[in-house]
Amino acid sequence: MLSNVEFEKESRSATDTSAITALCKAAGDPLRMQILKVLQQNAYGVLELCGVFDIRQSAMSHHLKILANASLVATRREGTSIFYRRNELNPDPDLQNLQDSLFQTIDLAALDLDYTNRLAAINADRSAASVAFFNQNADRFEQNQDLIASWSDYGESIEEFLPRYATGRHSALEIGPGYGQFLKALASVFDKVTALDNSEEMLEQSIARASAQGLQNIEYVIGDTQQALNQGTKYDLVSLNMVLHHNPTPADIMSDCAKLLNKNGVLIITDLCAHDQEWVKDSCGDIWLGFEPEALTRWAESAGLKEGSSLYLTQRNGFRIQLRQFSL
Ligand SMILES: C[S@@+](CC[C@H](N)C(=O)[O-])C[C@H]1O[C@@H](n2cnc3c(N)ncnc32)[C@H](O)[C@@H]1O
Repeated sequence: MLSNVEFEKESRSATDTSAITALCKAAGDPLRMQILKVLQQNAYGVLELCGVFDIRQSAMSHHLKILANASLVATRREGTSIFYRRNELNPDPDLQNLQDSLFQTIDLAALDLDYTNRLAAINADRSAASVAFFNQNADRFEQNQDLIASWSDYGESIEEFLPRYATGRHSALEIGPGYGQFLKALASVFDKVTALDNSEEMLEQSIARASAQGLQNIEYVIGDTQQALNQGTKYDLVSLNMVLHHNPTPADIMSDCAKLLNKNGVLIITDLCAHDQEWVKDSCGDIWLGFEPEALTRWAESAGLKEGSSLYLTQRNGFRIQLRQFSL
């Protein structure tokens, strides 16, 4: 007779085999692999995906159902629409390594040029909507921010670590300074700080705060990471606090950040952990409902960054904040 332990092992192994088969079958189709690649970048509705891949809704729904049954994609309802995103965390921990390798390999493959162009058009619309949100709500920024997490909730923790990151480093780029709450600390430990924001109204807020504080060593640039790359300057530290979730293609932003770093440069990222609070989209202009920490890890690795220290803070309102550090 089998002991309890042996019985559990035997039944577990039988389940594993069928789960592995289901995962491989679901991913083992050229179109579904391309869908998985597209869903790495963001959540998209069925109709958007039909537009990107130029196929009928019934066919797309069929493929999405297979991917969802294998837990490779997750769904989210928004009003009458369902949005699909890649499921970075498989509910079966035994499948996680296989899924990670699969996603990593899929992400290395090129996306068909037509798909890329149609996807870029959707993402450009989303980026423009995000910039418009900040331009229109610049005077209410702090109230909006306080609904989720105030600077004081995570800023102190970042500032505490800053002197350690600053040793032997001279220049810093802060992407998305918002109201400029971090600029004073940056300006006190770095010789030169660049504040880059793609919302003109928000950048004005940073300039006003920094001037009132008498900060002299800050250069202000209107634009995004692509503009920064075009300028050709590299930095010893890049900071990205509560910015990624406002962007349709966070993996691309992290890759840009890696290219903006000098050798041994440090990237610090603060962002929300994955959550299900849909209201943040309308109230705070969020595009992503936070991120699984594993997603940031994978995007960092793809960008050639090494993982450093991390800290997780849980807010009283239930939001979790991840403070991550990576280096080149
Ligand atoms: C939620 S606020 C965060 C502000 C500040 N970092 C903080 O933690 O309080 C996001 C800021 O990033 C800016 N932003 C969003 N995406 C950006 C991008 N791709 N490039 C530059 N700025 C961006 C927005 O305009 C806004 O000022």
